[in-house]
Amino acid sequence: MCGIVGYVGHRPALDVVLGGLRRMEYRGYDSAGVAVLDGAGALTVERKAGRLANLEGRLDEVGREHFGGTAGMGHTRWATHGAPIDRNSHPHRDASQRVAVVHNGIIENFAALRAELEADGVEMASDTDTETAAHLVARAYTEGDTKGDLTASVAAVCRRLEGAFTLVVTHADHPDTIVAARRSSPLVVGVGDGEHFVASDVAAFIEHTREAVELGQDQLVVITREGYEVLDFHGDAAQAKPFTVDWDLSAAEKGGHEYFMLKEIEEQPEALANTLRGHFESGRIILDEQRISDQDLRDVDKVFVVACGSAYHSGLVAKYAIEHWTRLPVEVELASEFRYRDPVLDRDTLVVAVSQSGETADTLEAVRHAREQKARVLAVCNTNGAQIPRESDAVLYTHAGPEIGVASTKAFLAQIAANYLVGLALAQARGTKYPDEVAREFAELEAMPAAVQKVLSTVEQVRDLGRRIADSKAVLFLGRHVGFPVALEGALKLKELAYMHAEGFAAGELKHGPIALIEDGLPVVVVMPSPKGRAVLHSKLVSNISEIQARGARTIVIAEEGDETVRPFADELIEVPAVPTLLQPLVSTVPLQVLAAEIARTRGYDVDKPRNLAKSVTVE
Ligand code: G6P
Repeated sequence: MCGIVGYVGHRPALDVVLGGLRRMEYRGYDSAGVAVLDGAGALTVERKAGRLANLEGRLDEVGREHFGGTAGMGHTRWATHGAPIDRNSHPHRDASQRVAVVHNGIIENFAALRAELEADGVEMASDTDTETAAHLVARAYTEGDTKGDLTASVAAVCRRLEGAFTLVVTHADHPDTIVAARRSSPLVVGVGDGEHFVASDVAAFIEHTREAVELGQDQLVVITREGYEVLDFHGDAAQAKPFTVDWDLSAAEKGGHEYFMLKEIEEQPEALANTLRGHFESGRIILDEQRISDQDLRDVDKVFVVACGSAYHSGLVAKYAIEHWTRLPVEVELASEFRYRDPVLDRDTLVVAVSQSGETADTLEAVRHAREQKARVLAVCNTNGAQIPRESDAVLYTHAGPEIGVASTKAFLAQIAANYLVGLALAQARGTKYPDEVAREFAELEAMPAAVQKVLSTVEQVRDLGRRIADSKAVLFLGRHVGFPVALEGALKLKELAYMHAEGFAAGELKHGPIALIEDGLPVVVVMPSPKGRAVLHSKLVSNISEIQARGARTIVIAEEGDETVRPFADELIEVPAVPTLLQPLVSTVPLQVLAAEIARTRGYDVDKPRNLAKSVTVE
């Protein structure tokens, strides 16, 4: 949601800002805008609802030569307050049009601030919460102690704002300076040679620099051509953490693929290998920033996994493994539900918060609630230094690389692998597995990139199937045991990408209701367990397939290579390599990702940017 970029340097700011916005398109947005400071006292703003192409069209109409400076900022907006129309798009300006502001997040006390400004005679030009910040900065800049001091004015306004926000502010009087502030919402600084950037994520400036600085909570940064200065909201010097981005531009480009998502599906073996690398040394599982001691892990008496979307499904998969390996009860909960139902938490509870972005507001609030209740929180996250890992006791990073496609693919597989590492670390600390057993489990995980690669070499058949069933009204997905969350993930992918009605069910529940949905020709995808690993479940699922086939369903069966028993019941059979049962989701999810992408392409949809969805959902 909302992408922000700010730049002060030696290049044409408009090009840098538009380039940054393009790389953040994946975050999801519905309008865009830019502001450029020309160095001679002019602040030029243009905004447009819809895709970036609309804004670029508008810039061509008015003439790009009017945006000639080397400092500026841009924004892609995902509407919260006010419809996605031109006048609600960012940047917003004050009445004098000297101050421009872009914003991500929600200013929760905006109604009171707006009323205060209106009582003062300010006329609002938009329906947004953001505009209040522009007027407040302008007012602070012209009055009192903060008069003429842009940084102090922004700090004073930040102290008054409630909620989560990133703000980037420019003032026509300061054409070589950009001031940015953050509370909870993401903001990173890019450090170049004679140029500096601020952005919602590093993708915005990765083509210019890999040197970055992660701002802390309630921090403010002032960037100029020469440097950057970090302060707190009281104007005192503050510490921020420098880091070097461990991926480069090629990871954020399509590299010849039609869509990022198709590239990311193919990157899954590498994402898995990178996530596992370095986590087994001298016979022991090692987590990244493990600020939870082995003794604390031994004291754990209950585990919660909290997450949203695909990350939640990765938690559902993990439950089977963690309970099996550690004998600890594991509850998996949607982060948006967690804190509102008063879960039973104490210092012996381990909460695993799984989030690709590390920004998801629902998951972040669940983390905060868990910590308030004294539970220990371990984040599984794909984004270095994001808010969720920052606020957790320990972090295990998935190293899937940047995921640009809105629908999660490689990050999901990496989350499953990382969650398994958490399970093995718990089993190791608690002694529920002998060291040689832990080593064997890890070796099995290490064999998974090759198994996923094998699945990828056979997906042409799935694509062909996708094209053939693209005009279906609905698709059902069934699975048992770890195949059940895979069914849920397969259905989610299809909803997200192809806007098709899709439901995942535990196959055993079929007879308790969903079987009424079966009608002639309805595609039903069935995720089979291994006939050897789970013989009893396998035979039960074969019965379930025959029940739906008898009622006219078109059965699409994902089964282990050589599973002959299921063949007569499969109208379409998709084979995946034999792997240990608990690891099966890593192979059986892949054809479902490909199926959803192919159906969406056939229906003519943009696979990377599904309608209404955002990659990082930073509002509750
Ligand atoms: C959004 C995305 C999903 C993702 C979910 C959780 O809804 O569209 O693909 O699974 O957020 O995101 P997170 O970054 O917390 O894993």
